[in-house]
Amino acid sequence: MTFRAWAGGLMTALAVLSAAPTFAGGGRTDDARHEAGRKIYNFRCYFCHGYSGDAKTLATTYLAPKPRDFTRDDEKSISRKQMVDAVRDGKPGTAMKGFKGIISESDIELVVDFVRVEFIRGKAENTRYHTAANGWPNHERNKLAFPFASGKIPLDRPWEQLNPDEQRGKRLFLTTCISCHDHARTEDPGPVWGGRPLSYPRNHFDPGDYTSAPPTKVDAIASASPYQLHDVVPEVAGLSPGEKRGEKLYQANCAFCHGATGTGKNWIGSFMEPHPRDLTDPAFMRDMTRGRLAHTIREGLPNTSMPAWKSVLKADEIDAIVAYVSRVFHPVKP
Ligand code: HEC
Ligand code: HEC
Ligand code: HEC
Repeated sequence: MTFRAWAGGLMTALAVLSAAPTFAGGGRTDDARHEAGRKIYNFRCYFCHGYSGDAKTLATTYLAPKPRDFTRDDEKSISRKQMVDAVRDGKPGTAMKGFKGIISESDIELVVDFVRVEFIRGKAENTRYHTAANGWPNHERNKLAFPFASGKIPLDRPWEQLNPDEQRGKRLFLTTCISCHDHARTEDPGPVWGGRPLSYPRNHFDPGDYTSAPPTKVDAIASASPYQLHDVVPEVAGLSPGEKRGEKLYQANCAFCHGATGTGKNWIGSFMEPHPRDLTDPAFMRDMTRGRLAHTIREGLPNTSMPAWKSVLKADEIDAIVAYVSRVFHPVKP
């Protein structure tokens, strides 16, 4: 390339650039920079701050403080430097995490400049989730449901306070939108789910105050359903080492269905058909022999949920279980 040709090329490039206001780093034009910033934003930021910078996202409904709504900013309400710092280092105590080490310093500047031009200055509609490209052609046909997706109408507004179109919109929302928009605005959010596991449907269940953190303690036994009575391992003094071993094996492998008490009157057992055998029932256990018991455990019972244990438990383990059953649930003949 001759110097002249090179210089000519440069001039042409400068002529083009003079149409765009500034020379961007990395040889990109402003448009290219802007589009590169958009790409980063639409990948890293939209799910909190919203495709259009308005923070109307599902994530927002869960966060406090909420992600910043850039459409309410102007160029003076937040400086470029404050934004770059926040994107680089995050804001402690908020969901805004720093992107240092995740995206480069120059990409941080790209995305900040994009936000400033697109949302803060331009108030532009960037993109939307519900586009034909994303598999939502003509999403406008669902517009009666939009107010429920956007939170304009709370989902728990009584039906009789909705006009016929709003009622149709709410019905549409409840049947097709709620699977994703599962945190619609409500006037009364209702009780917050507690973190305490609930294995049983509880009779007279007293939830305590589980909106407090940590939830106030609830006495599990007192509030539990009767099923829980059958999930307490019987305390029998003086078990031999073999019976102790059988206890461990029984409680680990069999109690799930037959209950810790051997009765099958535990929660799962009560729902099985046929019920797991009550291993304390004299009518059944009276004629039981060690050989038959071991055989059933080994082979299982066809067409029931009683599994065959022969490839899981060794013969001496089955013997230990038999010894335990005989000692704790009902005596078994030799
Ligand atoms: C497969 C998941 C999914 C379903 C189903 C869904 N949405 Fe969305 N919707 C989204 C996502 C993702 C966004 C982007 C905002 C966000 O991330 O919170 C969104 C955004 C919106 C917006 C804001 C504008 C836009 O297009 O980004 C409206 C309005 C909306 N949804 C309405 C509806 C309605 C009405 C239905 C039911 C007919 C529906 N949505 C069903 C996932 C879904
Ligand atoms: C997980 C959610 C989440 C993501 C992802 C996220 N932000 Fe934020 N952002 C927040 C929250 C929450 C705040 C509000 C903090 C507050 O009010 O103090 C915030 C605040 C900001 C602020 C204002 C900082 C200040 O000083 O008040 C900027 C700028 C910002 N975010 C830019 C971005 C950019 C750019 C991205 C993508 C690279 C991004 N955010 C990704 C949640 C998020
Ligand atoms: C997945 C559930 C399940 C597990 C686990 C289970 N059982 Fe059973 N068991 C059953 C059911 C159901 C029956 C009753 C079938 C019937 O009465 O037709 C049964 C029946 C029995 C019987 C009666 C056999 C007979 O002759 O009628 C014995 C004894 C027994 N189980 C012992 C055990 C032992 C010991 C274990 C652990 C090694 C065990 N079960 C694990 C479900 C289970």
